[in-house]
Amino acid sequence: MYTGLLHLHSLLRWIALILLIISVVKAFSAWNNSSKLYTEGNRKLNLFTLISVHLQLVVGFVLYFVSPKVQFAADTMRNSTLRYFAVEHVLMMVIAIVLITIGYSKAKRLEIGFEKNKRIAVFYGLGLLLILVALAAAPYNIITKFF
Ligand code: HEM
Repeated sequence: MYTGLLHLHSLLRWIALILLIISVVKAFSAWNNSSKLYTEGNRKLNLFTLISVHLQLVVGFVLYFVSPKVQFAADTMRNSTLRYFAVEHVLMMVIAIVLITIGYSKAKRLEIGFEKNKRIAVFYGLGLLLILVALAAAPYNIITKFF
């Protein structure tokens, strides 16, 4: 089960990151353009991005309890790999996913299309930034590590 979940988490990272980058680029490209509408296509893209990070959250939480890299021992805080997966990774990723969720629901409640795009640009953009910081902060290269 552990190996399967780890592969799923690794695969989902690409899907979530690619969708998030497309959402952010599209939302920023509409930033100063009040004629840009928040189309059904935009809404669906942002929804799929939200779903992909929520799936990553669910898989990540299960991994948290089965991964050998998550251990609470006396030296957890002194060991950079153990500390990263027990604390830093989960904390930063959860905050990023909360920001993305807030962005989607704020955009949903607004009426004007370009205001919706702005909200997505800010919240999805901050979420993406935090995810990239969390990946870059890993004690070894997990960004390009393939499975
Ligand atoms: C979009 C958000 C996330 C991304 C992009 C992401 C990405 C990654 C990557 C690239 C790895 C390394 C995988 C490998 O070594 O093959 C990893 C490992 C891990 N992630 Fe995440 N993650 C995310 C969210 C989360 C969340 C929310 C949790 C927990 C609630 C979590 C828990 C873990 C755990 C426990 C591991 C260590 C698995 C192991 O190697 O044994 N992740 N994550």
